[in-house]
Amino acid sequence: MTDPVLYAAIDGVAVLTLNRPDKLNALSYGLIDRLMQRLDGIEEDDGLRAVILTGAGDRAFSAGADIREFAGSVERGPAVAGREFVRRGQAMTARLEAFRKPVIAAVNGLAYGGGCEIVEAVHLAVASDRATFAKPEIALGMPPTFGGTQRLPRLAGRKRALELLLTGDPIPADRAQELGLVNAVVPHDRLLAAALDLAARVTRHSPLAVGAVITAATRGLNMGIAEGLQVEAEQFGRVAPTADLVEGLAAWTQRRAPVWTGR
Ligand code: COA
Repeated sequence: MTDPVLYAAIDGVAVLTLNRPDKLNALSYGLIDRLMQRLDGIEEDDGLRAVILTGAGDRAFSAGADIREFAGSVERGPAVAGREFVRRGQAMTARLEAFRKPVIAAVNGLAYGGGCEIVEAVHLAVASDRATFAKPEIALGMPPTFGGTQRLPRLAGRKRALELLLTGDPIPADRAQELGLVNAVVPHDRLLAAALDLAARVTRHSPLAVGAVITAATRGLNMGIAEGLQVEAEQFGRVAPTADLVEGLAAWTQRRAPVWTGR
């Protein structure tokens, strides 16, 4: 059977490829479960410092949840649909968002529905100039279910998000950049190189500091400022006793490049 999520390691970066190109990389339950499994493996491997997520084929990053499959869950009633479909997809986007190694989407084509929700959830995103984004769930008679009603308004602002959520109309990559959904738009044939370059600009730093920043910024965004500052202080508290912080401060004083051990 074809693996729905391919894995390759390039210079300490895990490249995961959503791999159902004949279905525009629609997110089947099997694909979501495989992605979660892949993330478990990457989390445990200290040799991997970042993740790039992209799509197979020349058309899609992902056209979203597998409609035929989740229609079957919906037919079996709301409890089954909640368990098999909604909670599975929400767990996937929450896992990507909370991952302590940077996750970068390399959006190679259309990112619709759940594909767009993955882009919303990950930490950084680079888009091909051919990429398009949409929230087409409304046309199916439903709201988005993998966090799309929550993260997009936080990223883009409520009215800009509601325009996408309520019309279902696609937008091009440069508009997605204006909305804060992607960090950069690059020529299609430069996409992976640009994502790897962005990854390298992060992974040159201590993995402990990178994890602390991701957690503080991600958790803090969903809190009031007082609680957020508490999370920030906690994250500093985790890093404060580490050899990496001693090394970072010493290297700065001695005007040399730091050597990180991740401890
Ligand atoms: N779930 C399941 N299969 C999907 C899919 C999805 N979300 N999106 C695309 N596919 C499949 C199609 O069924 C088709 O396979 P088939 O030939 O075996 O039927 C294949 O991928 C190619 O898609 P197709 O619709 O023929 O391409 P298109 O260029 O005509 O249209 C889209 C592209 C993206 C507009 C269209 O595929 C679409 O509307 N997809 C659903 C998007 C969506 O609503 N996502 C949110 C789900 S909650």
